Amino acid sequence: MNPLAAGRIAGVGRALGSRVVTNRDLELLLDTSDEWISSRTGIRERRFVGEGEDCVSLAVDASRRALSHAGVEGGDVDLVVCATSTAPEAVPSVASQVGEAIGACGVGAMDLGAACAGFAYGAAVAASMLRSGLATTILLVGVDELTSIVDLEDRATSILFGDGAGAVVLEQGDGSSGFVDHVLGADGRFAPLLRAGHPGSPQKLRQNGREVFRFATKIIPDLVEKLLVRNGISLDQVQYLIPHQANARIIQAAVRRLGMPEERVVINVDRYGNTSAASIPISYPDIYDEMEPGRYIITVGFGGGLTWAANLYRI
Ligand SMILES: CC(C)(COP(=O)(O)OP(=O)(O)OC[C@H]1O[C@@H](n2cnc3c(N)ncnc32)[C@H](O)[C@@H]1OP(=O)(O)O)[C@@H](O)C(=O)NCCC(=O)NCCS
Repeated sequence: MNPLAAGRIAGVGRALGSRVVTNRDLELLLDTSDEWISSRTGIRERRFVGEGEDCVSLAVDASRRALSHAGVEGGDVDLVVCATSTAPEAVPSVASQVGEAIGACGVGAMDLGAACAGFAYGAAVAASMLRSGLATTILLVGVDELTSIVDLEDRATSILFGDGAGAVVLEQGDGSSGFVDHVLGADGRFAPLLRAGHPGSPQKLRQNGREVFRFATKIIPDLVEKLLVRNGISLDQVQYLIPHQANARIIQAAVRRLGMPEERVVINVDRYGNTSAASIPISYPDIYDEMEPGRYIITVGFGGGLTWAANLYRI
C-alpha cells in the first residue's frame, strides 16, 4: 500500500490559553509538589484560558494563524472540521463558529468527538474527503478547553491538563505529499477508564490513571508498527513521531519499545500539559520548517472511549 497522498499541510497555527500555570502555582492551591508532578508526568507548566478566552476563541485564533501561514483566505476553505470534546454549547458547533469568524460561510462545518484521539481521527476524515474530491481545501482544528471539564481541586487530574488549539490547512496538492494511511480504533468496553461530562456538568473528568498509562504505552508502538509494516517503510524513514502529549513518561516508554531516537519524537507536554485534541496540531509549528520532503511523519492519538488513531504522512 502507498497510494497517492492526500492532504498536504499547507499551513499550521496554534493558540494556547494565555494564563501560564506552573507546578509551583499549583502547589499553592493543591496538596501536591513540583517534584511529584514533574517526576511522574514531565509536565512543568500548562496554559489555562484567560479573561475572554474559551474553546471557540482558541480555535479561531489558531485557525487564523494557520490560514495566514498557508497564504490562504477563509473564503478558499470548503470544509471546516473541529475535533473537540469541550464545545461550550451543544449547538452551534465550534466548527460553524470558526467558519463564520474566518469568512468561510456556507461551506461544510462539523465537530468531531473522539477525545484525545480527535485530531488523528479528523486527519483521516479530512484526507478521505480530499481524496474523494468532496473538498479541496480543509481547515482541520484540534481544540480543547480542559479546564471546563476538569475538577480543578482534584490533584489526581487537574495537574495534567491545559487549554489550547492547533489548526492545519490541508490542500489536495499533487499527490506527492500528504496522508497515505490511517488506523482508527475504539473500544467502548473500556469507557469506564476515563469519563467526563460536558462543560458545566457536575460530572467532572475521572480516570483510572494506571490503566490508562498501561494502555497508552502499548498503543503507541502498536500503531506505529502497524503503519510501518503495511506500508513497507522503515523507522529510519520516519522523520518525526508526534504522539498525543499526555505524559512524557508514556512517550518515553513507548519510544523505548519502538527503538526510535528521542530527538525525532516531538515532546511539548512539559510546556502545555495534556491539551487533548489540540496536542498533536500544536506540535506542528515547532517542526514545520524542518520537515524534509520524501520522509514521513507518524501521528498517534489515544484517549477516552477508549479511542485511538494514527496517521502516516509523507512530507
Ligand atoms: C495520573 C498519573 C500521573 C498518576 O501517577 P501514578 O504513579 O499512577 O500515581 P497513583 O495514581 O498511583 O498515585 C500515587 C499516590 O500519589 C497521590 N497523588 C495523586 N495525585 C497527586 C498529586 N498531584 N500530587 C501528589 N500526590 C498525588 C495519590 O493519592 C497516591 O497516594 P497514595 O499512594 O497515598 O494513595 C499516571 O497514572 C498517568 O499519567 N496516567 C495516565 C493518565 C493520562 O494520561 N490520561 C489521559 C489520557 S488521554
